[in-house]
Amino acid sequence: MTFEYANRVKKIPPYLFAEIEEKIRIRQAHGVDIIDFGIGDPDIPTPKLIVEEIAKQLRDPKNHNYPTSAGEPETRKAVADWYKRRFGVDVEPQGEVCILLGSKEGLANLARAFVNPGDKVLVPDPAYPVYAQGAAMLCDAVAVRVPLQPRRNFWFEDSPRELDPEAKMLYVNYPNNPTGAVATKDYLRGLYRWCVETHTIMAYDNAYSELTFDDYIAPSMLEIGKEGTIEFGSLSKTFNMTGYRLGYAVGDAELISGLKKVKAQVDSGAPKFIQKAAAMALEQYTGSEKPPMVKESIAIYEKRRNVLVAGLREMGFKVPMPKGTFYLWFPVEGSSLKFADKMLEHGVVVTPGVGFGPAGEGFVRMALTQPVERMEEALVRMKKAL
Ligand SMILES: Cc1ncc(COP(=O)(O)O)c(C=O)c1O
Repeated sequence: MTFEYANRVKKIPPYLFAEIEEKIRIRQAHGVDIIDFGIGDPDIPTPKLIVEEIAKQLRDPKNHNYPTSAGEPETRKAVADWYKRRFGVDVEPQGEVCILLGSKEGLANLARAFVNPGDKVLVPDPAYPVYAQGAAMLCDAVAVRVPLQPRRNFWFEDSPRELDPEAKMLYVNYPNNPTGAVATKDYLRGLYRWCVETHTIMAYDNAYSELTFDDYIAPSMLEIGKEGTIEFGSLSKTFNMTGYRLGYAVGDAELISGLKKVKAQVDSGAPKFIQKAAAMALEQYTGSEKPPMVKESIAIYEKRRNVLVAGLREMGFKVPMPKGTFYLWFPVEGSSLKFADKMLEHGVVVTPGVGFGPAGEGFVRMALTQPVERMEEALVRMKKAL
């Protein structure tokens, strides 16, 4: 039997990363050793303290039944308290926090709550594909791609005048995937003001807020204002917990309420034992500074970043040293797909920039999710490939 996909699903472009995964699978089946810098999934294990807390909570039968889709009260309070300690922002746990099954779900479901068919949704280009596809397209809305400018730190051009004031919503993401760019508070202030003036929902993706290097500390958009703003965060990258699916949305009570309304119809919340361990993880922050368990991962990524940037620069690539995220983003000659294919022939996986939007063409992304020894081996192979 065959069934036709819904029109909105038909519009979704083929998933480039699935094609790459298939190519990798074929090579591996032929016995090729692959060094994968493709997926932004930490190879570092979840801190032991968190794993032990999950195991403890899992053994308690109180945590075996349905959670609430908006999040357990103690987890929402832990997120609110963390916002106060980390960003100095006052958040009301009942009305201004929603726990998510990973921030991806919230980023997509927000559109279901507020975007009508035909509405315009502004998305950065390049960007995490969920904004254009999971959010805008699956709501029959129009994703309007706004290029991030390489010569402006991957910010919008002369921000924010080029943005369409008719749009319903704007997605903004710093520290940025895929470019590794970070934002200043001044830049974010301009975007916030524009959203308030034009009555546009500001959806701020702060999934990498804790994955920062050197002296850079990522701000929260809520430090600037809460009006019309919803911010998404995640335990995925902060605590190497991508597989547990735990994120949070914080902000304007009306936006949180809309998101909760959608979620109440489509999911029943994150498992209680994960939520309780997540609360404990956030409590490791006793002030604004990162706790030792987070600092330890950052130190590992930082060392890798330095090794890979130096090696690629030696080969002649113009690679910026990112202050946030675990991605390197740099220009290559010609098509990014061809470059990625050539590297794959030598057993090295890099992600073609075009997979993140048309403005990503000419760039590739490498995730710092391989140990230094493997990076060194990959650099040798890349040199050969060139
Ligand atoms: C920019 C950005 N936002 C959000 C997410 C989603 O993370 P999660 O759903 O694991 O919280 C990712 C994942 O890679 C991402 O890169």
